[in-house]
Amino acid sequence: MAEAFAKDGVAVITGGASGIGRAAARRAAATGMRVVIADMNEAKLAATADELAETLGADNVMAKVLDVASVDAMTALAGEVETRFGAPTLLMNNAAAFVSGGAGGILDPVENWQRLFAVNVLGIVNGVQAFLPKMLSAGRPGAIVNTGSKQGLTSPPGNPAYNTSKAAVNAYSQNLARDLRERPDCQVTAHLLIPGWTTTGDATHKQGAWLPEQVIGFMADVMARDAFFILCPDDETPPETDHKRIYWNAMDIILDRPALSRWHADFKEAFAAFMQRDLPK
Ligand SMILES: NC(=O)c1ccc[n+]([C@@H]2O[C@H](COP(=O)([O-])OP(=O)(O)OC[C@H]3O[C@@H](n4cnc5c(N)ncnc54)[C@H](O)[C@@H]3O)[C@@H](O)[C@H]2O)c1
Repeated sequence: MAEAFAKDGVAVITGGASGIGRAAARRAAATGMRVVIADMNEAKLAATADELAETLGADNVMAKVLDVASVDAMTALAGEVETRFGAPTLLMNNAAAFVSGGAGGILDPVENWQRLFAVNVLGIVNGVQAFLPKMLSAGRPGAIVNTGSKQGLTSPPGNPAYNTSKAAVNAYSQNLARDLRERPDCQVTAHLLIPGWTTTGDATHKQGAWLPEQVIGFMADVMARDAFFILCPDDETPPETDHKRIYWNAMDIILDRPALSRWHADFKEAFAAFMQRDLPK
């Protein structure tokens, strides 16, 4: 069974200073795990580490200022964690950049595309490359959770670079999960966390959104039944709505419709009608 939070385990969480990552770190601390948080935001990281140390004692908390895009930094972190706590039982590759400067369009400066891919995609690859060999050789159960996005599944207009990076996270995580399950006696599993609309960062909580703690509670429940996809609803989007949107998107290929037909004027009525019906069995 893939247990996200287990007493005496070791949690390593990137982007652990804020939002969903911080909620995971708090849950891990409350469970009695040793907790490692890594983040670029020095001030928030220090504040979160202090808070975790109140629950766990400073000896059981490690905080590292780093950029997940750096192979060297992630490799060094894995070495330090191994020495101090042993291999992680939970690796949460959660840090991501959203918009780095541009208008978010298809002609966003290439530097912005490179940065989003370096963080959102290769940051996850770096985490897996650095920690997975240690998790495998530890010979005990472990879970890797990569944070994706619904934007990586359905690609709504507005931020093609982010959408594309999160689509890559989806593909990468599925490849990782399949690879792990084919390994003889492997006790490490992989999971894709797909948050809904969640109040994070410095945003004010709005009606309809979930709190990061709800996302983490949902994640723990889904992982307890060994599922790969952790597709979170929120108070505005129930699971059936997500399922229909994902189904419509996949059917674009099968029905030879235009790309992202959900947002094509000619398909507006058909999509609206589809959303009113039950999902085909
Ligand atoms: N909030 C939502 O509605 C939502 C929806 C879908 C997916 N997500 C995903 O959830 C994850 C967590 O984001 P959040 O919403 O909690 O945002 P957040 O801003 O509260 O937290 C993200 C943290 O990641 C850190 N970070 C960013 N780039 C980094 C880097 N290169 N190296 C190290 N740390 C870095 C930030 O400093 C921040 O502390 C992200 O992968 C995001 O794409 C969020």
